[in-house]
Amino acid sequence: MALLALVALPAAASPATEALIAERNCMACHGPNGVSPVPLMPSLAGQQADFLTLQMILFREGLRQVPAMMEPARGLSDQQILNIAAWFAALPSAPKPDRGPRNEAMFQRGAQLSAARNCNACHLPNYAGRANVPRINHQREDFLVHTLVEYRDGLRVGADTQMNGLMHGVSNEDIRAIAHYLAHRE
Ligand code: HEC
Ligand code: HEC
Repeated sequence: MALLALVALPAAASPATEALIAERNCMACHGPNGVSPVPLMPSLAGQQADFLTLQMILFREGLRQVPAMMEPARGLSDQQILNIAAWFAALPSAPKPDRGPRNEAMFQRGAQLSAARNCNACHLPNYAGRANVPRINHQREDFLVHTLVEYRDGLRVGADTQMNGLMHGVSNEDIRAIAHYLAHRE
């Protein structure tokens, strides 16, 4: 029995992966359990593994340029990235611990804008994402605003340019409503 359990252990949960995550301090910035209590810092818990893998490769190659992510991603092998991504993807997703109250008018406006712009076509109706399309529910509101503005203004380079095109011409006010809606869904 014990041997079977050992064989069934996914590679991602190996002590080597956990040691690597500890050594590179991922949790110090992204939060204990991968749910971020830090302003502008994205949560990683329950994020799609393929999306995490792609983003880590973009950071490692210097294509998505975030100074804070240069050291953590430096020199990781593809296999190490796959293991780290699977490890964070397996953590339970949750809203940020100090999520503020819902502003009903803003929430409804955000819901309408998201429906009109078909965000759920790719991110799925529950906004949990799929494969290389990220989970965007339970994400921090301030990070969502920040990153949607960056897509719009061409400051965030993704694995593709879909999000840059989709955010073209969207006002700051509409972005704030969309982020409020996404962050306050269950
Ligand atoms: C010094 C703080 C810091 C450390 C340590 C750190 N990160 Fe980050 N990470 C950031 C910041 C800041 C961002 C947000 C960048 C932005 O504004 O787009 C980020 C973004 C990310 C993203 C993109 C998430 C998304 O939703 O777009 C991933 C994936 C990620 N980090 C993984 C990791 C992993 C894995 C580790 C450990 C190997 C790690 N980070 C260590 C600061 C850090
Ligand atoms: C055609 C498919 C598609 C549609 C429609 C779409 N997205 Fe995305 N979205 C993606 C993909 C793919 C990514 C990852 C891109 C990358 O590599 O940066 C992404 C990334 C994001 C991110 C970054 C999340 C993170 O953790 O870094 C946010 C936020 C987001 N989308 C919000 C939205 C919103 C809001 C809408 C509706 C206005 C929308 N998306 C519509 C495909 C789509």
